[in-house]
Amino acid sequence: MAVTTLGIIGAGAMGQGIAQVAAQNGIMAILLDAAPGAAEKGRAAVMQRIDKLAAKGQADAAAAGALLKVASGYADFAPCDFVVEAVVERLDVKQAVFAELEKVVRDDAILASNTSSLPIGSIARTCRKPERVAGLHFFNPVPVMKLVEVVRGPASSEATVRALLDLGARLGRTPIEVKDTPGFLVNLGGRALNTEALAILQENVAPCATIDAILRDCCGFRMGPFELMDLTGMDVNFPVTEIVWNGYFNDPRLRSTPFHASLFRSGLLGRKTGSGYYHYQDGKAVLPEATPPAGSPPKAVVLAEDHDLLRALCAAAKVEILARDDGKAPILAAPWGEDCTALSQRLKLDAKRLVAIDPAGKTDMRVTLMTAPGADAAVRDSVAALCRDAGRQVSVIADSPGFVAQRVVAMVANLACEIAQMQLADPASVDKAYQLALAYPMGPLAMADAWGVKRIYDVLVTLQQITGDDRYRPSQWLRRRALLGLSALTPA
Ligand code: NAI
Repeated sequence: MAVTTLGIIGAGAMGQGIAQVAAQNGIMAILLDAAPGAAEKGRAAVMQRIDKLAAKGQADAAAAGALLKVASGYADFAPCDFVVEAVVERLDVKQAVFAELEKVVRDDAILASNTSSLPIGSIARTCRKPERVAGLHFFNPVPVMKLVEVVRGPASSEATVRALLDLGARLGRTPIEVKDTPGFLVNLGGRALNTEALAILQENVAPCATIDAILRDCCGFRMGPFELMDLTGMDVNFPVTEIVWNGYFNDPRLRSTPFHASLFRSGLLGRKTGSGYYHYQDGKAVLPEATPPAGSPPKAVVLAEDHDLLRALCAAAKVEILARDDGKAPILAAPWGEDCTALSQRLKLDAKRLVAIDPAGKTDMRVTLMTAPGADAAVRDSVAALCRDAGRQVSVIADSPGFVAQRVVAMVANLACEIAQMQLADPASVDKAYQLALAYPMGPLAMADAWGVKRIYDVLVTLQQITGDDRYRPSQWLRRRALLGLSALTPA
């Protein structure tokens, strides 16, 4: 069988990664770059990485080396079956690259763009044969990131999309077909976690380190959103957030905050500049000293509503649960969607003694406590001591409808539901994309099932009602599945 030939224009970070996975998977890669010597340098960098893998027995350096070529000009792309461009993210430059390409490639060659933010339709519109143009969106670093989005442009033919899905699989990736929409699937989907964490920060519910710790320990995210934004850099995540927010005509679900913009504009980009949400010293985030536990647990508490978690904490800490409110004991609650203020009004409770504990997610390692404004700090501290005696780390936050974990998970699930509703991809591919490209502990639609689809829906309805903010309006996909008692993965 003839060897498939893939032309790659742009020998930077992405072009090199694509060339590496091609050569390692038996596909001829021809590299071209506009900067003098850049393609040769790119090839050498790829070979260095392959040599390292070969030393560990994970690659065949000779075979891969024979498949890595450098082009001296566009004419060398004449035999290519596919060409993917990974040049600078500018529409005019990409259009010019495709115009040059179409002068030399075969009529049946397929042309792809690795753009992360430009519409494929805008790139293809100046092409002679727009039907053979589509997106092939890899993630950085390419050899590590298994997902590739095959973006169907408005003019892309079925054959073009099929051929790119097949190429993606032959490159050792997991290809998913997505629509040509702002941020495609992954860069849109990733907005919920970051922007809801930012909304919580803006409301002064808790500092970054507390929000990150809750989302890691109670929701299973590998990194907290602020750690993650500092790692990717504000120069990457702020423009992507803006592009997606503008692309969806300022949908409040995708809204960021002035603080995010301010870090970007001030050049406080995260790890790479030594400062972002956190300050870094010797590559490590400088976190505030942990404050020693204050107070001792109460002798007894009263439950606002019965709940297994509250009973388990009291049993582990050996604290009595009173059958009736004695007017003095802390009142414990485990609400969904409500803040302490709303809860105290609904159940006519003494807000000074009310301490809410988040029942959501994993509660065996860390619990989150919140109180209403004006609450008795000594009461809150005594409940914190109770939780510590029950073997939990404690995060104390200000009053927030849905604490931190419920709000963030509900927003993540809601956006994934909206993505499924728009059919950017089928539900199973939506979940796969989040796991492979964003390293979520599980797909967000499966997460909605695990937490309870109706529960997630109710949290959002309550949030929207309490805040008056359409940011929290539930997706119709979520509403229908919640009301019908169906899995969030149920197809349309
Ligand atoms: P980069 O800056 O590392 O490399 C771009 C390369 O293209 C440079 O070597 C430059 O000399 C070359 N170039 C510029 N104009 C050219 C032209 N007219 N003809 C030939 N070569 C030209 O950029 P990077 O990060 O590799 O990004 C490339 C593309 O991939 C962009 O469209 C970007 O949006 C996209 N992308 C980047 C990701 C990332 O995390 N870096 C992730 C996914 C997509």
